[in-house]
Amino acid sequence: MENFNFPVISLDKLNGDERKATMEKIKDACENWGFFELVNHGIPHDFMDTVERLTKEHYRKCMEERFKELVASKGLDAVQTEVKDMDWESTFHLRHLPESNISEIPDLTDEYRKVMKEFALKLEKLAEELLDLLCENLGLEKGYLKKAFYGSRGPTFGTKVANYPPCPNPELVKGLRPHTDAGGIILLFQDDKVSGLQMLKDGQWIDVPPMRHSIVVNLGDQLEVITNGKYKSVEHRVIAQTDGTRMSIASFFNPGSDAVIYPAPALVEKEKSDEYPKFVFEDYMNLYARLKFQAKEPRFEAFKASNVNLGPIPTA
Ligand code: OGA
Ligand code: NI
Repeated sequence: MENFNFPVISLDKLNGDERKATMEKIKDACENWGFFELVNHGIPHDFMDTVERLTKEHYRKCMEERFKELVASKGLDAVQTEVKDMDWESTFHLRHLPESNISEIPDLTDEYRKVMKEFALKLEKLAEELLDLLCENLGLEKGYLKKAFYGSRGPTFGTKVANYPPCPNPELVKGLRPHTDAGGIILLFQDDKVSGLQMLKDGQWIDVPPMRHSIVVNLGDQLEVITNGKYKSVEHRVIAQTDGTRMSIASFFNPGSDAVIYPAPALVEKEKSDEYPKFVFEDYMNLYARLKFQAKEPRFEAFKASNVNLGPIPTA
């Protein structure tokens, strides 16, 4: 469904007399959408053009043929019934923090490696800036979220580079099945022409509209826990298109693996403290790896105090 109210936030307005209105807009987007689009975010447009060009070149040169072979080998292009265990996407992953693995990823040109490293640095800065804006809106001290994500080695930060090739049966196989993101805050550079990303709003799937040079932001499960549900992670999916390949570069700014995640005490009403659990981020991710395409509530439930340390039930 088309949507004309999708929140678009011009970050440069934070520097002038529209700061208050802009902070309100961010707050509204976090409370009521879980998604927003950033423009004038400070990442140069010509640099984003380079990221896009190199990503599309790499896809054509190293990924496209492989994807076609995979589809053919699984008979995915001729399915008659809904496919529920696969996504119509071609991806590879980069890690930036706690340490980069870009030099170990095969098939990337030196130029592409260098550009993606630089892109990650710019996105990392933007993610940290956003976390502090969220702190301000939530009434948390500056740096609270950064600290909550820190663990012993700092945050984890990685990028999923995806292309969604044209699909003959978009109603039978999803580009990416519905899910919420497990982590913290997600920054997405998506194709400006080929659409496909949708989010669930008031029970309806609505488009996250392509907008040239914007960065789409969404909130993951960890921010839902830390904000004690003031902000929620929102379900989203990708619909494959029959025409055109959609590029999407999703960067996940997440807690460190040993960070302990729990609702910020300032956001918990007394005597109502167990709505969200406390856990080690890595344990959550291990559970998510198995339950990604299921509702998030059972994931939260699994970590509630009553379910922890329940050793084997004695039978005699
Ligand atoms: C994801 C995701 C959306 C997209 O990878 O978690 O939601 O547009 N990606 O690629
Ligand atoms: Ni996602």
